[in-house]
Amino acid sequence: MKVFRPRLAVMVSGNGSNLQAILDACEHGLLRADVVGVVSSKEGVPAIARAERSKVSVVVVAPVPNETRAAYDLRLLEVVKGFSPDIVVLAGFMRILSNNFLQQFPSQVVNLHPALPGELPGTHSIERAFAESRDNWRTHSGITVHLVPNEGVDTGPVLASEVVPIHAHDTLESFTERMHEREHILLVQTLNDLCQNFVAGQEIDSVS
Ligand code: GAR
Repeated sequence: MKVFRPRLAVMVSGNGSNLQAILDACEHGLLRADVVGVVSSKEGVPAIARAERSKVSVVVVAPVPNETRAAYDLRLLEVVKGFSPDIVVLAGFMRILSNNFLQQFPSQVVNLHPALPGELPGTHSIERAFAESRDNWRTHSGITVHLVPNEGVDTGPVLASEVVPIHAHDTLESFTERMHEREHILLVQTLNDLCQNFVAGQEIDSVS
């Protein structure tokens, strides 16, 4: 029987440590999938070099001045579709995708959010959680991997989430490091579950 390996397109805007976790997991057989393309919304970010080191195609789709979101998303769509992905992973992609884009990939777009479901949407979620802990009421934050069905910011059906404690002796750096460590593990595990379901579906289709 033919073994299907899901095709992943990973979208990034910055450091790309989660992209690195995905690339490493694919390379070491912990994630049975292939990263077929990386799309960055920014020039010159470390994520690009990470993709290049792994010999993965990378395309920068940076917004141009006065470009509407619709026009930008149309360009983005062309590029992402060109990779024919089975799953599109938003790993620190810091733009809101329009419904026009998302409708092209129904139940295929997965986002990583550095907070518990429904909490701290948008940017600087780790910093905001840490600041709230210093104000003495927040004792933990968390991480979430969810599907992106529409333009809602960091919302959608939850695939996995995990609480991450904030200790009294933490600094922003130590808390951030703990968050990223947990993200790298949860994202890979969740993608692996998705990929296995995807492969099972393909195998059923191929014999029916
Ligand atoms: C991650 O912490 C991810 O959860 C966050 O961006 C960071 C990217 O780090 N995403 C969001 O804040 C989405 N709202 P990385 O570039 O090192 O993978």
